[in-house]
Amino acid sequence: MPESVNLTANQPIGIFDSGIGGLTVARAIKDKLPHEKLIYFGDTAHLPYGDKSPDSIKYYSIRIAQFMLDHKCKMIVIACNTASALAYEAVKDFVGKRALVVNVIDPVVEKIAKDKTLKSIGVIATKGTIKSGIHASKIKKANSNQNVQGIATPLLVPMIEEGFFNNNISRSIIASYLSRPKIKNIDALILGCTHFPLIRPEIEEYYNHKIPLIDAADEVAIQVEHLLKKHKLLTPSKKKPVHQFYVSDFTDAFEKSTRFFFSEAIRLHEARIWK
Ligand code: DGL
Repeated sequence: MPESVNLTANQPIGIFDSGIGGLTVARAIKDKLPHEKLIYFGDTAHLPYGDKSPDSIKYYSIRIAQFMLDHKCKMIVIACNTASALAYEAVKDFVGKRALVVNVIDPVVEKIAKDKTLKSIGVIATKGTIKSGIHASKIKKANSNQNVQGIATPLLVPMIEEGFFNNNISRSIIASYLSRPKIKNIDALILGCTHFPLIRPEIEEYYNHKIPLIDAADEVAIQVEHLLKKHKLLTPSKKKPVHQFYVSDFTDAFEKSTRFFFSEAIRLHEARIWK
């Protein structure tokens, strides 16, 4: 992390994702730090990131980081697992000392590596995240006794975005993924995608509540608070902030779906950063 020499506590926190799924992370941060002002950006013009090449994800992420710097953010949270897997280092290099940069994978890795009871860990995520092998390599480095197996679950993202969960079909899609031999005998499961907190109850039910689920959103909110405290950047304000929500391509459908991911009604504004 850079020395936060030029940053001030009343600057906002920028949070970005490929779309609206990262609102689960924004929501966790808002719940933990209710006085921090948030600037959210969902790159709906390029959704989904899960199928894109690493070069494209890096290119998009750096441009969005510039948008956050233009909005004077003190911290940039990469609230997308795929972008965290493929573009974190590139964003960090680009941003330098101009803001703190947080990804959604390291906080999860730290939590898991500390837990000596966990030996075999499963991950469900997009194709891009799984192909990167990021959870396996970071966890192995942090705790060489742990072993990570991941599977890509591409059907789950569009299913959740359509509000299509908590029914027989979603339960059978989830069961069909979770019964794959690769993640059969695990001690914990990482929900490695922004959308998965919404199907957490169904996943818990599948495992009869016997397998702990590790949700990136909660861990990231803890990490954000910790880092802001450490750098003396927690806002002193006690007022309710007015958050701003941007997407790169506005549609009514996106605005309607935001209610699944965030606890308050949201107005999305289009930021034409690609046009
Ligand atoms: N936000 C993405 C992630 O967490 C999921 C959606 C996408 O593929 O863009 O990996």
